[in-house]
Amino acid sequence: MPNQLHRRLWLKQTALAALGLSFSASSLGGEDYLPRELGSETRLLNLGSNENPYGLAPGAKKAIADLINTANRYAYNVPAVQSFKKELAAEYGVTQEHLLITAGSGEALNLLARHYSKGNLVSAYPTFAILPNTAKKIGVSVKEIPLDANKVHDLGAMLQAIDDNTTHVYVCNPANPTSTIVKPAALKSFCEEASKHAAITIDEAYIDFLDAPDNESMISLVLKGNKNVIVVRTFSKIHAMAGLRVGFIIAHPDTIKSLSANYFGNSNFCVGALSLNAALASLKDPEHRASCKQKNAAAREFTIKSLQELGFKPIPSYTNFIFFPLKNYSGDFAKDMLEKDVILRSSELPDGKWCRVSVGTMDEMQSFIKIMRTVKA
Ligand SMILES: Cc1ncc(COP(=O)(O)O)c(C=O)c1O
Repeated sequence: MPNQLHRRLWLKQTALAALGLSFSASSLGGEDYLPRELGSETRLLNLGSNENPYGLAPGAKKAIADLINTANRYAYNVPAVQSFKKELAAEYGVTQEHLLITAGSGEALNLLARHYSKGNLVSAYPTFAILPNTAKKIGVSVKEIPLDANKVHDLGAMLQAIDDNTTHVYVCNPANPTSTIVKPAALKSFCEEASKHAAITIDEAYIDFLDAPDNESMISLVLKGNKNVIVVRTFSKIHAMAGLRVGFIIAHPDTIKSLSANYFGNSNFCVGALSLNAALASLKDPEHRASCKQKNAAAREFTIKSLQELGFKPIPSYTNFIFFPLKNYSGDFAKDMLEKDVILRSSELPDGKWCRVSVGTMDEMQSFIKIMRTVKA
């Protein structure tokens, strides 16, 4: 398919997604259907969805091939994947009763927005949109607390925003679209205080890109018995399995029980056996994850330095994407970059225009920077 058609398709999808988004086309997920490479002579640089460009762990590819002849079966009829929850629980030091497997973590966020919908939701702005947008769509009032001047969650202001009607609080850490973090100690005390009043969902989709001690998960609070702290994780990012749709919730067994009652199939139905088998294999390959993390860090450093040389001021990135202000760019940056065969996200915030670009391979980021040299901002 020629690039022109792909561009038009993507624009259309993005425009549709933007209708339901406060942060235009930034983060809903699910609106990117384009292949990274379209063939030898036509190529779109897809830096729009924070995907892992290094592909599945070799064992995960084999795991899919191994089960290909069971694709006619529901996962609960495929013996090879019955140990998935057990293995996942062992990986995170929890019990199987602490886990709810979902078709990607987006589905978990959707479920949580619906489950805790009796009162208002407190979230940051801007933030990853699935949970707050789902809440808005079903009539939940959302208190959107602006990030602070450094584009970090303003936990103090979020705490203050919690009132008698708050039933749910959402914190994305590391944050999308800004790629900033709050330190574990601060987040822990926030969760401890806020969870006295409401359920707190901590979205840790990008936590595996962090170094110690920043990579401390809020799972420890769940294990302490806090029923109101809910951790959401995904295989889409460091495991490079975005297309396979495996995510999960870690929460107190009572919380999981109550969430499961609202989730028609639980893990036995919603995620396919091929995806589960790939996830099982990927869990056994920490070297692949370490290699993705290390290559991402190198390409990220190159990109940030190059953007700085071009006069842009990216904010420090802790993930596989970079957020930077567009200076005085006039026009629709994402649309204009698409004309140059680059897919990324741009948005208009109260303090101006911003761009979010995913960190691809070093080659891809070199191509991106070459194109950025032609941008007048
Ligand atoms: C912060 C965050 N949470 C959740 C998701 C959803 O990922 P998935 O549904 O692929 O697990 C994304 C996707 O980009 C994300 O950025």
